[in-house]
Amino acid sequence: MAKSKTVYECNQCGYQSGKWYGKCPDCGSWNTFEEVEQFTPSKSSASKKNVDLTDKILELEEIDVDDDVRYKTGINEFDRVLGGGLVKGSIVLLGGAPGIGKSTLLLQICQYLGEEYSILYVSGEESARQIKIRAQRLNVDTDGLYILTVTDAEAICDTISSSKPDIVIIDSIQTMNIPQITSSPGSLTQVRECTNLFMHTAKSLEIPIIIVGHVNKDGAIAGPKVMEHIVDAVLYFEGERNMTSRILRTVKNRYGSTNEIGVFEMMDKGLEEVENPSQMLLSGRPENVSGTCVTCTMEGLRPILAEIQVLATKSGFSAPRRMSKGFDFNRMAIIIAVLEKRAGMFFGSLDVYLNVVGGFSINETAGDLAVALCLYSSLFDKPLNENTIAFGEIGLGGEVRAVSNIIQRVREAQRMGFEQCIIPRQSLKSMDQNDYSIKLIGVSDIKEAFKIFD
Ligand code: TYD
Ligand code: MG
Repeated sequence: MAKSKTVYECNQCGYQSGKWYGKCPDCGSWNTFEEVEQFTPSKSSASKKNVDLTDKILELEEIDVDDDVRYKTGINEFDRVLGGGLVKGSIVLLGGAPGIGKSTLLLQICQYLGEEYSILYVSGEESARQIKIRAQRLNVDTDGLYILTVTDAEAICDTISSSKPDIVIIDSIQTMNIPQITSSPGSLTQVRECTNLFMHTAKSLEIPIIIVGHVNKDGAIAGPKVMEHIVDAVLYFEGERNMTSRILRTVKNRYGSTNEIGVFEMMDKGLEEVENPSQMLLSGRPENVSGTCVTCTMEGLRPILAEIQVLATKSGFSAPRRMSKGFDFNRMAIIIAVLEKRAGMFFGSLDVYLNVVGGFSINETAGDLAVALCLYSSLFDKPLNENTIAFGEIGLGGEVRAVSNIIQRVREAQRMGFEQCIIPRQSLKSMDQNDYSIKLIGVSDIKEAFKIFD
């Protein structure tokens, strides 16, 4: 016999404990502990039956994968992130902050998918009327799209198994609930159990299900980290809400690489694919202005050029202000310190503002050299050559260190029409200038880089 025992569980991170806490010992959130019932199997193993599953063991070779169908969504950026389309029977989690465009993206893929397949769009967030209005705005008028606005997860699964749509979309998991579970929708238990239920349905009926999940302010999928283990793929939709560019990123994918990203732009008529993100990020660059430099950053396997801008101005405060958007604040502080110590520049009485254009963010050290050049350019009010691009990591000694994927970065710069490329000298050794039309300049420390513009 199984016996039930009371345990408490954090609805943010899933930490379990025998007693209640005001503050979760694991993730540190306050007031998140809820009572959950758990079944522990009985200890009397003597009564356990002997189950032999030998005939269920399969040889790798005899497993049939021919029916591994992928549904194309018609949006290349989305297909690529999924690893080539939506896999039959898979369950995909699409996470993102509220209002970022998850529902918009999913409604848009229905237009293409609907030509061939039937799609059940289950919404717990909007009324059927609201969805229709949005669909009209997005020019989605396919016959294959069916709307259901309920939140009872069990009823939804029963409906799926009786109506057998080809694809199901659940928007969002935080609104779904299983009536037998007492906790409110969006709580850890509800989210986990609903996800399990949908997973079971997806696998047993071989119907792919896309689930929308809102993320909280820390960027984690609200409450349930647990969902990430259950689903086959986790995609995050990111971007600044008041900017138009959006990035779709894979965090986990059982059917493809996690190094892919998709870039979109939010327009009046929904999301548009951006096939050439570098061009978008570089459009409208100012000419002959100091404090700006372009760098190349890797987003997964994709090189993307981004413009960095720095403004160093006389400070009106006793402690000068430092601000950074799209680039790590501490990293900027380190680069300023290195320039002061190793290149004799002085920013002590200057406010420094750094911005990466287009709401884009640079999450790797390859942007260091461009930041240093921007600081230099702004400090002396000396515009850099617009056709120059720079990348390299800066060490505390002022040295410029090698970065990964150098060839992809240089190629992208060349493709976008840049004329000279400042790279770490170490990286230059492995390259041949004759292979490129862009001029490659190797530097080993920041002073050498600044000398180029003297
Ligand atoms: P939505 O898809 O509802 O976000 P989510 O489902 O992630 O919560 O997106 C809503 C935002 O997108 C809203 O702020 C308005 C904007 N938007 C456009 O700019 N253009 C459009 O065509 C649509 C439909 C929405
Ligand atoms: Mg929505």
